[in-house]
This record gives sequence, structure tokens and C-alpha cells, in this order.
Amino acid sequence: MKRLLGGGGARLCLALLLRHWLLGSSACPCEQPSLCKPVSSQRDFEVFAFDVGGKTWKFYDWTQITTVATFGDYDPELICYAHSKGSRVVLKGNISVKKILKLTVRTAWIKQKISLAKKQYMDGINIDIEQTVKKSSAEYYALTALVKETTEIFHKEIPGSQVTFDVPWSPECVDSRCYNYTGIADSCDFLFVMSYDEQSPLWSSCIAGANAPYKQTLVGYDHYIRMGINPKKLVMGVPWYGYDYICSNLHKDHVCFFAKNVFPGAPCNNVTMRQAPYRIIMTLENTSTSGILWDEEQKAPFLDYKDSKGAFHQLWFDNAKSISLKAAYAKERGLRGIGMWNANCLDYSASIAAQQQTEAMWKALKGA
Ligand SMILES: *[C@@H]1O[C@H](CO)[C@@H](O)[C@H](O)[C@H]1NC(C)=O
Ligand SMILES: *[C@@H]1O[C@H](CO)[C@@H](O)[C@H](O)[C@H]1NC(C)=O
Ligand SMILES: *[C@@H]1O[C@H](CO)[C@@H](O)[C@H](O)[C@H]1NC(C)=O
Ligand SMILES: *[C@@H]1O[C@H](CO)[C@@H](O)[C@H](O)[C@H]1NC(C)=O
Repeated sequence: MKRLLGGGGARLCLALLLRHWLLGSSACPCEQPSLCKPVSSQRDFEVFAFDVGGKTWKFYDWTQITTVATFGDYDPELICYAHSKGSRVVLKGNISVKKILKLTVRTAWIKQKISLAKKQYMDGINIDIEQTVKKSSAEYYALTALVKETTEIFHKEIPGSQVTFDVPWSPECVDSRCYNYTGIADSCDFLFVMSYDEQSPLWSSCIAGANAPYKQTLVGYDHYIRMGINPKKLVMGVPWYGYDYICSNLHKDHVCFFAKNVFPGAPCNNVTMRQAPYRIIMTLENTSTSGILWDEEQKAPFLDYKDSKGAFHQLWFDNAKSISLKAAYAKERGLRGIGMWNANCLDYSASIAAQQQTEAMWKALKGA
């Protein structure tokens, strides 16, 4: 090896470095150079997986995944692997809506994303803004324009690439996100509907409930479709996490009140709820005081448990049963596909129990 670094070797190195620097692109990290080509084929049913980093992607069900949105660090190994399975890998895109009013700023942002996507051999972008926008404000129009421009430039610069946009469970100004949903749907490949975080506990009846109740989830899709959005522009997002509530009062009939001294019309004070990934929830099954129960109204599982300090908790989540019901609806209604936030949430360890759990969760995406 040392000898190579003498005369000729060093010159070769320098030449490669120069080439790399001049072309501004990194060498293909995949063993087969063909795996650095963007994926351009289309599949009938999208399975859109969000990945937040680490190596759990090695255990995903790649027979189903069509797109991985990488919200963690850049992992060239993941790109090569996904491409070998014909799956796309897309960037995360987010920018403050206050900054996008000028065309020049939008164009610069898009150019930067294109160059990053090309450099990393990626196949598109998932735009995840999740910011407050007032109807008919300057930001309202600029956001639609941003999505349209991003899609046009990505499609042109990376043929076959995919541009998607994340929207809340309902288009009715949820969390003050009053976007031009029809305009945005027309301007990109499809919307990823975040059918979760559907409770607004502050103003509810102060009773713990499902993260994504079945009927409420379907109402959201009805609204999107009734406003004129083609079902083929909608991918259903399901949660692979739940919410753990601390109950100030847990009734024998499993009703968890999470606030005290509330009077009608008042917000529920002191809401204590936290997200929990599916793999953690499953470890609580044995310590729970209730076992896993099923709420027929919300079509969701939940469990009660007491923590080490003696506080009562109720945990609402989604499992293979609740997800397969929603997946069946997605197929029936002719949606573009399904996906989850996020794929890392399962227990990918080698135990038989974990493997069965994980397999059931991936299988649930196919519907009952
Ligand atoms: C996007 O960026 C804005 C402003 O920089 C930030 O407030 C917001 O939380 C980010 N949203 C997401 C989903 O990352
Ligand atoms: C939404 O965007 C589309 C496409 O830009 C536009 O034609 C339509 O007028 C917009 N709708 C509203 C309500 O602003
Ligand atoms: C909020 O509720 C939790 C659990 O019921 C309780 O431990 C805590 O003291 C409460 N905090 C306040 C400020 O009331
Ligand atoms: C729960 O208990 C069952 C039966 O005792 C056991 O087989 C299983 O491994 C336990 N699960 C966990 C997550 O501890």
C-alpha cells in the first residue's frame, strides 16, 4: 500500500480528488454503480415508511416498502439497499413559512435540496412543514407555490423522482394549519396524511382517548376527498406509537380522567401525556393492571398500569388489529397507499415474541 503512495499513486489520488471537487459529486457508495441510479418505476400501492435513523431499517419488510423518508442522518448503506429493492429514498424538506414569500428564496432552497438529493443519490423529497398558516395569507399562497416549484424542478432534474407533502388528519385548519390543500395536492405527487395526534386534550372531555380513533380518521379522509382531492393523491399515515396519560382519577370501568376540578367550557388543566413507541408499550402489557383492552367505539386498544410511584396511567395506541381495519379502509376507498410514523418504533430484536409482534405490525399494513 505504501508504495502506491509514491509518485504515480499520489498523482492518481490528486486527479481523483480534483475530479471529485470539480464535479461536486461524491463517488457512488454502492458496490454496483447501477444502484446509485434514481428509482423511476411506479408501483400501484405505496408503502411509505418514515425512518428516523440507526440501523433498524435492516429488519424492515422490504417486500412492501416503496419509499423511505429519511429523517435521520444520511446513511449511504440504506440508499444502496433500498435501491436494490426498487424502493425510493427521499429527503426531508422543511423551511420557515415566513421565509418563503420571495421567489428567489424558494428557488435557492429548492436548488440546495436538489443538489443534496443528487449528491446522496436520492429519489425525491418529503416536505414536512407543520406550521401555522392563516387562510388566504401571503404564506398560504407562497406555500402552494413552494410545493409546485419543488415538484417541477425535482421532476425535471431527477427524472422519476417523487415529491410529497405531509398534511394533518383533517383539512379543517387542524392546529391552525389552514393550507390550500387542493392546490397542494395538485402540485405534488401525493399527500401523506398524518392520521394521528387526533385528540386535542386541552378542550376535550378531559378523558384519555385513542391517538387515531377509527371513525374520526375516516371523517378526515372524507373531507379531503369531498373537497375534490383524488383518493390516489392520499397516502394514509398510521401511528406506530401511542399516548401514555397520567390519570388523576382512573375509574373501575377504565375511564381515565386526566384533569381535576374542571367545569364545563374550561380547558382541561394539567394534561400529562407523552408519546410511547410500540416496542415500549408492548413491554408494559405484563405489568399492566388491565391487560390489553379494546374500545369498540374508537376501535383502538389501550391498557392501564400503575407506575413505581403509584400513579395510574392509561396508554392508548394502535396495534395490528386497529391498523388492519384502517388499512382495509385505505384499500377499499382506493387510496394511494399507507405508511407509518415511524418504522423504527417496533422491537426488531431477535426474540421470538418480538419477531412475531413486528411481523404482525408490518402485515397489518396490507389490511385484514
Ligand atoms: C420546520 O421548521 C420550522 C422553522 O424553522 C420549525 O419551527 C418547525 O418546527 C419545523 N417543523 C418540522 C416538522 O420539522
Ligand atoms: C389553491 O391553489 C390552486 C392552484 O394554485 C388555485 O387554483 C386555487 O385558486 C387555490 N384555492 C384557493 C381557495 O386559494
Ligand atoms: C398534574 O397531575 C399529576 C398527575 O395527576 C400530578 O402528579 C401533579 O402534581 C399535577 N400538577 C399540578 C401542577 O397540579
Ligand atoms: C409476559 O408474560 C408472558 C407469560 O408469563 C411471557 O411469556 C412474556 O415473555 C412476557 N412478556 C414480556 C414483554 O415480558
